[in-house]
Amino acid sequence: MTRKRLGICGGPYANPYSLRAFAADARARGCDELFCLGDLGGFGADINALWPILAEEGIVCVAGNYDVAIARADPDCGCGYRDPTDNAFAQLIYDHTLATCDRDFAAWMATLPTERRVKVAGCDLHLVHGSPLALNDFWWESLPEEEHRARVEASGADVICCTHSGLPWRRRIDGTLVVNVGVLGKPANDGTNRVWYAVVDLEDGRADATLVALDYDWKAQAASMRAAGLPEAFVETIETGWWTTCIEVLPPAE
Ligand SMILES: [Fe+2]
Repeated sequence: MTRKRLGICGGPYANPYSLRAFAADARARGCDELFCLGDLGGFGADINALWPILAEEGIVCVAGNYDVAIARADPDCGCGYRDPTDNAFAQLIYDHTLATCDRDFAAWMATLPTERRVKVAGCDLHLVHGSPLALNDFWWESLPEEEHRARVEASGADVICCTHSGLPWRRRIDGTLVVNVGVLGKPANDGTNRVWYAVVDLEDGRADATLVALDYDWKAQAASMRAAGLPEAFVETIETGWWTTCIEVLPPAE
């Protein structure tokens, strides 16, 4: 019998406090291995603070659109926003991240694959950032069934884990377990300070997943953002649990 428990997080968004809390919480829950599905920067002040945590905790990473952009020093994050106000906020934090990111860290990001396909405990596991269709695809729970099916069929795996959209959910789609693990970098627009990740249990070809709400030192994250002079709109999200920027992409049902 083979059994594995994985701790899988998404989007740390330059939040070292929640990344450390994730690693500690997942280990305490008995996770054998830790994964991060990308978007290391993009909201908090200090992206460089993540690198030693990823290394010390042995967190295996997939590159997100943000990491690809920072590694290439692209002019923007490639997040896929359309609203001008969203784009202005996204540009401001992208410029901050690009200007402050250690180029050795950026070079390391360039070495990351944009997806990983691994066989664990008899399960074919596909780790992606947006979806099997695109790096910056927003895989919302409220998508129509045919849209869900198209993404599952593009993969063919037993389990697919993704992030990018920022809201966690899990469900079975035509026999495939799909888990959007949420993000560590900001709350899930639910009026709480908590952030989310997933514990995935794999045993002899069977898979199950639990979404975990994580408490962390959000006051320290808010203070570091204020000290760096980042917009109050970003800090407010950390403090209130409600999104204030980049909400134009959010479907009404979400
Ligand atoms: Fe992303």
